[in-house]
Amino acid sequence: MNRTERIVLLGAGGHAKVVISTLEAAGRSVAAVLDDDRGKWGQQLLDVPVTGPLSEAEAGGYDFGVVAVGDNVTRKAIAQVLRLLWLSVVHPRAIVHDSVTLGAGTVIFAGAVVQPGAVLGNHVIVNTGATVDHDCVLADFVHVAPGAHLAGHVAVGEGSLIGIGSSVIPGIKIGSWTMVGAGGVVLKDLPDSVLAFGVPARVKRKRS
Ligand SMILES: CC(C)(COP(=O)(O)OP(=O)(O)OC[C@H]1O[C@@H](n2cnc3c(N)ncnc32)[C@H](O)[C@@H]1OP(=O)(O)O)[C@@H](O)C(=O)NCCC(=O)NCCS
Repeated sequence: MNRTERIVLLGAGGHAKVVISTLEAAGRSVAAVLDDDRGKWGQQLLDVPVTGPLSEAEAGGYDFGVVAVGDNVTRKAIAQVLRLLWLSVVHPRAIVHDSVTLGAGTVIFAGAVVQPGAVLGNHVIVNTGATVDHDCVLADFVHVAPGAHLAGHVAVGEGSLIGIGSSVIPGIKIGSWTMVGAGGVVLKDLPDSVLAFGVPARVKRKRS
């Protein structure tokens, strides 16, 4: 007899709601959400119970997990300490070309488009309506925020956030743990660990 798969989400914030809705749109359901904020235990996130702390993930009999946290540092911290099979999730109304490589735990939300030859690492987020064009390379824990656009052959290093509504021209290299602020237009390469914003985007300060 087939057993129903059990999927657990780590993190019970707003981002987790979108992961739940994406899984439901794809015909899958979430068994439980875990979060270390005990004030959330016993509550429902959409229709899914928040049952306890993250430490319950490994012994909970779950088949798959998704780290459902938008913050890149926190998502990496959780993914590194828990041993689960990480599920990658694509909304049925996202467009992801067959040639695209998706890492474990990577989520692609509604309206996103990922074009041929793109390579996305583990635990990447391509958020609502964002686009990642041909041959882009996104390292682990990158977050492309809603409505952001990467042109072809853009490379983004580990843990960087491409902020909401920003744009990156072709062939640009963005370092690791860098943040492009909302609406920024990136015309030149950006180094590791900086905050840059504006049109054109300029480095404003280092990030720790
Ligand atoms: C850049 C950002 C992180 C704020 O940084 P901050 O250091 O806290 O900046 P502040 O809010 O203190 O603003 C400082 C100045 O920068 C300006 N500024 C802030 N963000 C800006 C942006 N994205 N573009 C242009 N100017 C910006 C502010 O207007 C302010 O200008 P002022 O001093 O003339 O008033 C934030 O504004 C941002 O863009 N976040 C994007 C978050 C995002 O996309 N998340 C994805 C969620 S799914």
